Amino acid sequence: MGTTSALSIGVIGAGRVGAVLSARLRAAGHPVVAVAGESDASRERAAALLPGVPLMKPSAVARASDLLLLTVPDDMLPNVVQVLADSGALRAGQVVVHTSGRHGLAVLAPAAAVGARVIALHPAMTFTGTEVDLDRLTGCVFGLTAGAAERGLAEELVAELGGRPTWVPEEMRTLYHAGLAHGANHLVTLVSEAMGLLSAAGVSDPAGTLRPLLDAALDNALAHGDAALTGPIVRGDVKTIRAHLADITANAPDTLPSYVALARATLDRAVTDGRVLPIQAHKIVRALDEATWSVSVQAQ
Ligand SMILES: NC(=O)c1ccc[n+]([C@@H]2O[C@H](COP(=O)([O-])OP(=O)(O)OC[C@H]3O[C@@H](n4cnc5c(N)ncnc54)[C@H](OP(=O)(O)O)[C@@H]3O)[C@@H](O)[C@H]2O)c1
Repeated sequence: MGTTSALSIGVIGAGRVGAVLSARLRAAGHPVVAVAGESDASRERAAALLPGVPLMKPSAVARASDLLLLTVPDDMLPNVVQVLADSGALRAGQVVVHTSGRHGLAVLAPAAAVGARVIALHPAMTFTGTEVDLDRLTGCVFGLTAGAAERGLAEELVAELGGRPTWVPEEMRTLYHAGLAHGANHLVTLVSEAMGLLSAAGVSDPAGTLRPLLDAALDNALAHGDAALTGPIVRGDVKTIRAHLADITANAPDTLPSYVALARATLDRAVTDGRVLPIQAHKIVRALDEATWSVSVQAQ
């Protein structure tokens, strides 16, 4: 433990992230002195991950702690900070940290105004709110935004959580978060739709069938970007694309819009880097347009 060792920690609230991060900080030797949470889910998480830590009202948690972890939903954060500051629950020198990806330091302005040391510390990870998350923090990247005086403290907290820091400028927080959400959240939709198509095709184990392929595709994309692309678009196999569109329309029409949207985006990128010629791209675009058009006509 470094210079953060003397800080007592309070958590508002005991959600998926708050319970897990504070449990990991506790395991690193920090006393967690109080936690706030009203719902049964939050109380059960606190009991499981923070046994013995008293549940208190948010303002009492703030008053009891040297380091206040604000782990409430993004949209609640401005109001929670403002109410805590207005009620005099925050103080000069206190460390106030939130874990939102979208927000930076601006949302913590009411805390900074009373002299608190403010840090935005976002784990680029998906949380279940259970013990399994604890190990996933090892090697997890944390998107940090902090003033010069808090940079060392922020990096030390990340190290104690087992993670790695990456610095995000205040004005880029939302774009940073959009990148993570586009990758991780939309991947869930993409994979679920792909499993649905395989199920509709009668494949008995869609997940097991996709796993080796998707593992390889993800590894290749992360290592090589667009150069990792294989498949009918980059080969210019227009007849195969037309056949896909026809069978998706017939068997899984709900998946057609995202197939078409991603095919267009994939094609644009392949044209830009010169791997698909414009004349070939034109044929693919026509196939995509016709599929979209025929579905919209049927819907009328
Ligand atoms: N989930 C993820 O995978 C993930 C990943 C990275 C970052 N984050 C960020 O971490 C933060 C927390 O997300 P989460 O997923 O942990 O949320 P969550 O599971 O929904 O938990 C939210 C917690 O905040 C409490 N809360 C809600 N409104 C409140 C209010 N007005 N005043 C005081 N407490 C309130 C809830 O208490 P009750 O249960 O009693 O309502 C609950 O304990 C968000 O900023 C989110 O963007 C989440």
